[in-house]
Formats: sequence, structure tokens, C-alpha cells
Amino acid sequence: MTKRVALAFSGGLDTTVCVPLLEEEYGYDEVVGVTVDVGQPEPEFDEAEETAEALDLEHYVVDARDEFADLCFDSVRANAEYQGYPLGTALARPVIAKKILEVAKEQDCDALAHGCTGKGNDQLRFEAVWRASDLEVIAPVREMGLTREWEMEYAAEKELPVEGGNEGAWSIDTNLWSRSVEGDDLEDPSYVPPEDIYDWTTAPTESEGTELVEIEFDEGYPVAVDTVEETSTSSQPSAGNGEEQSAVDIIEQLNEQAGAHGIGRTDMMEDRMLGLKVRENYEHPAATVLLTAHEALEQLVLTKEERDFKQQIDHQWAEKGYQGLVDAPLMTSLDGFLDANQTKVTGTVTVKLDAGQVRPVARESDYAVYSESAASFNTETVDGIEQADATGVAKYHGFQSRLANAVAAGVEKPELAADGSGDGHELPSKDGGEDGEDK
Ligand code: ARG
Repeated sequence: MTKRVALAFSGGLDTTVCVPLLEEEYGYDEVVGVTVDVGQPEPEFDEAEETAEALDLEHYVVDARDEFADLCFDSVRANAEYQGYPLGTALARPVIAKKILEVAKEQDCDALAHGCTGKGNDQLRFEAVWRASDLEVIAPVREMGLTREWEMEYAAEKELPVEGGNEGAWSIDTNLWSRSVEGDDLEDPSYVPPEDIYDWTTAPTESEGTELVEIEFDEGYPVAVDTVEETSTSSQPSAGNGEEQSAVDIIEQLNEQAGAHGIGRTDMMEDRMLGLKVRENYEHPAATVLLTAHEALEQLVLTKEERDFKQQIDHQWAEKGYQGLVDAPLMTSLDGFLDANQTKVTGTVTVKLDAGQVRPVARESDYAVYSESAASFNTETVDGIEQADATGVAKYHGFQSRLANAVAAGVEKPELAADGSGDGHELPSKDGGEDGEDK
């Protein structure tokens, strides 16, 4: 029986050395390379194709852009960020892992393999999906304790095609939702990154003009992006206007448009799942714009209680998302809350793109929990309530603190007046004043 293994294949150094290793060290007869498209730049596919060809590898490219974009939009409903990072790599991994598993089954493979090291998050995210199947899971780089140096030597010895373009000093991971740059000098938290680590974003100081962009949401999901005013001299596409847009279209448009204004850079220390702190640099213009606009709409349509409670839902969603556990039962429950809660998050938000910043400047919704007359300085009575009705509330407000502070200081305790007239230094008599009951 021929033994076949499906390998998550990018054409980079790690996955390229995995091909002969799976045959020689793990005894597989045939390796099947699978590259999953989650919005990487075109040259990465060329590299994968060319390397696969040079290795004489059976190679499949699977398009998962729509599925991935949908998951990113699920994350918008949950305002999902992990320590300030909008989860691009994290959310892509389960999508990629599922596609590879599908191909492995179609192609009669007995095992699944990835080229992740034993230090990062991705090994955990891939395997969380794969270990639910009955296929064997192999991680040659981790299991054989390989270093980049060893891989380079091995590749030279075996004459493997690893000269491709993506092997620069930094380790870069790009998909629709974010571009991550790490490694080399950047590993030092005290090192200031040079401008050329950025590819999606113009330096905020170099960006030109401003743009007003209207983002339409339906039940928490972004559905359309319209540029309503442009003062940029740059030739940005003001696409979208009036047309129906897919999630992928919206993300691609905003990455370009907001990236030109230098929006969505993050330079952070990230706590990885294994506990290591790692210095990370990210670019995520579309994610920043959509998350900002979404939250601005929630401010308008959700009650304070909903917003406060939802922070816990959002936090848990982001934690599970970061861990790559998008199919955890908890996730289903969290999504259930979001389904119910986000029905009102329908409306439009206008944001201003300006020199590295995206700011909400207008919002509208049929579900606005907002009464202009109640909040306005120019109306006296609303729904039978007048200003003077707040007097009693104002008297109570802070009473407990005043009392506690007086007790702590050993001074005379403040007391609420029974008749509402004085400033409250007398308790109502125990046997009941005029209306001394507080119920
Ligand atoms: N630390 C991030 C995560 O775990 C991104 C890692 C991306 N990888 C890279 N080689 N740049 O989600």
C-alpha cells in the first residue's frame, strides 16, 4: 500500500525541506502539497507553484478567500482583537487546516504534515483541527528539532529549490486581514523598525489628504463601503459606491484605501499561547477601519448593559480566535449571543481617514437608542419628566460613598433628609417620618 501524506505547503524553506524529510525520515511514498489561498500576495503562489514543480510535487491550490473573509467578518461582530492584534494569522489557520484536511481525504492520504516549529502558535492551531480526524499528524521541523541553519545546509546538499523570493531577513505572514512581520532585528523589543518593514501602509506622516468613508452594517456585518468625500491628491480607487460588495471586496478596498492613509500599524509585545512573549509588527488597515466603525455603531444602538456585558463575550471570542479554536462549543454559544445581540447593529457609520487615524465622525441607525429631545439642552419636559425630577437622584448619588468615608474618618455621618428639603443631616425617625420608607 502506498503511504501518502498531505503537507501544508507554501514553497518556503520549512515546507520545502519537509518534502524529502517526509519520504526519507517518515517513510511516506508520496507527498501531496496543499497551498490554501487566504489572500496572500500573488508572488507567494508563484513561489509555491515553482517550488512544487522543481520538487516534482503533486500540488493543489485551494481558494478559501470567501470562507476566510466571512470568518473575519464574524470577528468584527465580536470586536475581536487579541492584545491589540486583529487576529489575521490566527483566524486563517483553522480555515487553512480544514481545507488541507479536505484535500487529504479526497486524495486518500494517511497523514497530515505542517512545517511549523515547536515555538509558535500555528502548530497548535493546525493540529486542533487535524487531531479531530483519524489521520496521523506529523510536524517534522518540531519533531526533529530543526533550525533554519540546518535546513539551509540540508537544502543545499539536496539541491532543493529554496532561492525563492520570500526568504528575506524577516518572517512575513500575509492574508486578507493582516500582514505580520517578525524575526531578525525585530525580535529585539528595543529595536526601532525601519520604514521598509511596511508594505500595506504609507507612513502616516507621508499620507496625503483625508477621506470620508461611509460603512454600512447589517446585523453587525459590514455590507458596503462608500467614499463620500475625498481630499486626497493620491489616486485611490473610490470603488464600491452603490455596488454590492463581497466581504473580500470590502476588505481589499479598505486595505488599499486606509493603508494609503497610514492606518492600521501595530508594534507590540504579544503573549503567545506557550507563554513566550514575542515582538510583533502588524499591518491591518481594513480590520482597523471596520472594527472602529462597528464599535461606533454599537455605541449608538446597544444599551449600556449590553455594551458592558458584551465586552466579556468579545474577550472570550478573541481568546478562542487567537487559539485557533473557532469550533469550540464555547464559540457556538458566543456566536449565539452575537446572533441575538447584533440584530440591532444595522446602520451606517462615517469614518474619517486621516494621517494614520480612523475616526468615526457620524453614525445613523433605525435602532438608535437615542432621543434627541431627552438629551438636548433645549427641551424642558420629555415624556413627563422634567429637569427638577433629577434633584432626588442627585441627592442620593454618592450617598454610600459619603457615608463610608465619614465612618472611616470617624466624623459625623451624613444622613439623607426625610422631607427632601434640607441637605440631609437628620435621619427620619425610626417609627416612620412622612414618607420615610425607601421602598
Ligand atoms: N504571532 C501571530 C500569531 O500567532 C502572527 C505570527 C505570524 N507569523 C509570521 N511568520 N510572521 O497569530
